Amino acid sequence: MNEGRVIGLVSGKGGVGKTSACVNLGIALSRLGNEVTLIDTDLSASNLGVYMGRYDHPVKIHEVLSGEASLQEAMFRHPTGVNALVASTEYPTQIRTHPT
Ligand SMILES: Nc1ncnc2c1ncn2[C@@H]1O[C@H](COP(=O)(O)OP(=O)(O)OP(=O)(O)O)[C@@H](O)[C@H]1O
Ligand SMILES: [Mg+2]
Repeated sequence: MNEGRVIGLVSGKGGVGKTSACVNLGIALSRLGNEVTLIDTDLSASNLGVYMGRYDHPVKIHEVLSGEASLQEAMFRHPTGVNALVASTEYPTQIRTHPT
């Protein structure tokens, strides 16, 4: 089995196209035969869920990091074939990461 690879798309400035690039790159890599999972690590002003048409997905990365939900519960498969783990724009408290 091939090892997974992590590609981070980051910027010090907002609105430069990170999420657009992430979605399009992810779909392109998926079409080339790769298993792709998009993960939104913007814990306060996320928008991957909006781009994936799933802003209302009930379980997000916040619940995984806080230990309230499993990764399997939070991840979903988009019709394009990419998996996604989206973040909340309205998580009520500061995240306390769970040790396990
Ligand atoms: N290559 C591009 N050409 C023109 N417009 C683009 C391009 N990439 C993104 N945009 C537009 O720029 C805006 C910001 O894009 P996007 O949401 O991907 O940026 P972001 O870096 O993720 O923003 P944020 O910091 O708010 O998360 C959107 O309106 C998007 O449609
Ligand atoms: Mg973004």
